Amino acid sequence: MDFPIFHIDFIGNRMLIAVDAILHVIINHALAVGALPVIALLELSGIRTKDPRWDRLAYRLLKVIFIITTTVGALTGVGIWFSASLINPAAIGSLIRVFFWGWFVEWIVFVAEVSLIMAYFLSWQSSGRTPEAKLKHLRLGIFLAIFSWITMAIIVAILGFMMDPGNWMSERTLISGVLNPMYFPQLAFRTTLAMVMGGMTMICLTYLFTRNDLPFRTTVLRAISSWSGIWMLALIIASVWYYQVIPQHMLANIPVAVTTQEYVSWNSSLKWLLTIGLSFVGWVLWSSIRHPGQVHGAKYLASVLLLFAMLGQFERVREFIRKPFIIGNYMYANGIRVEDYPLLQRDGILQHATYAGIREVTADNKVAAGREVFEQTCTRCHTVNGINSIRGQLKTMYGDKPWQPEVIAAYIENMHGARYFMPPFPGNKAELDALSVYLASQQKRATAFNGAQTNGIPIPDKISASTVYGTLPNLANPHGEQQ
Ligand code: HEC
Repeated sequence: MDFPIFHIDFIGNRMLIAVDAILHVIINHALAVGALPVIALLELSGIRTKDPRWDRLAYRLLKVIFIITTTVGALTGVGIWFSASLINPAAIGSLIRVFFWGWFVEWIVFVAEVSLIMAYFLSWQSSGRTPEAKLKHLRLGIFLAIFSWITMAIIVAILGFMMDPGNWMSERTLISGVLNPMYFPQLAFRTTLAMVMGGMTMICLTYLFTRNDLPFRTTVLRAISSWSGIWMLALIIASVWYYQVIPQHMLANIPVAVTTQEYVSWNSSLKWLLTIGLSFVGWVLWSSIRHPGQVHGAKYLASVLLLFAMLGQFERVREFIRKPFIIGNYMYANGIRVEDYPLLQRDGILQHATYAGIREVTADNKVAAGREVFEQTCTRCHTVNGINSIRGQLKTMYGDKPWQPEVIAAYIENMHGARYFMPPFPGNKAELDALSVYLASQQKRATAFNGAQTNGIPIPDKISASTVYGTLPNLANPHGEQQ
């Protein structure tokens, strides 16, 4: 409400952030957190056995990690900041206020991580001259693995906080925010999952890089498979722990979260697919520990792809079940704080939306005012014509008969009750009316909805109570400054 609304209608905000963030998290878990310990272990084996093949392989694997994490990995990480702060600046603002020192430390750790991977990779070739230099070099690798885990551990605190802030709601301290109820279970889940993913990805690449030395391939594959197998067992325990701390109201969202409303009944089959998928990865690991020379590369590749797909799906479900909130019980996904609802429902949302072009609904401006209300209250999750389009939703509900504003209004008034994952409507009665007229007007029109980045910022016809010098309105006398 305090910022212009960014919106891309064909892809929608949810998909925009998902594409970037899921790619980032796959690279982070599989190639940073999970793979770096494997590299350090391979280097250690090279030192122990004095067999240079371990060292050569570790270096080749690290080269892949180095290139991908410092390019696509780093860019998509920054991309999350760009997309999240464009899409929901209010939520990012709140998170920065709570986790200021968390992020402060995060950036130091991140810079250390980038410096360490540069040093580790670039000094590899020259570090082999003396055993002491090699041990020093290995130490870089161990620190690198620890630092990349710490960056994840900090971010997981924020992700857990967004799902359930726990005691922070009453204590309002950084520590209570970090130690939210989801923190440790989610950290355990992500750590073990990353280790399995990293192990599996390294197994796959090792298979590729050792084509010409089958006896060595067998030895390495057995070693990495055993390491990953142990993490696989830990992953199963961590998953059960994590699942158990998910609050009941979030579990109720899972059927829609898994795909969309249309496919709610797929929920149980998806659970089976997940179990079958994990069992497959477990079976490949088990065969690879027992007869590493006999597992075909396609099975390793299939396991890696399955793990990537499952992680992507997990992120989607996790993001979805938090709804209707963006920060559990504190701020709704539309960027409006729960505690601001009574004020907005009384005065109307347009009065307090800094960049709304219209402040008041009148008999003549209903469609235009309704568009503004839609922009403020629905566009974080809906487009007009693109993904999760409001026209599509209304068409499913009301078909091709003329859409009635009163019927739509009756639905929206109760939408949080009907569909828990949507926030309650935050505006007043006149705005509800205008929104419904606007939505009904969209039945015939197929114009895409442009955000502020295309339309520019409207000049308000009347400055709102809350925007004057950024002061909050006096509840007893909200328009006091105009008298
Ligand atoms: C937190 C995100 C979010 C917000 C905010 C939101 N919606 Fe939704 N809405 C959804 C999702 C998700 C669906 C279901 C999509 C699916 O799976 O088909 C949905 C479905 C709907 C449906 C179809 C419901 C049904 O019973 O089939 C309507 C109508 C709708 N939304 C209207 C609105 C309006 C109007 C607003 C703004 C006042 C709004 N929504 C705000 C996420 C949201």
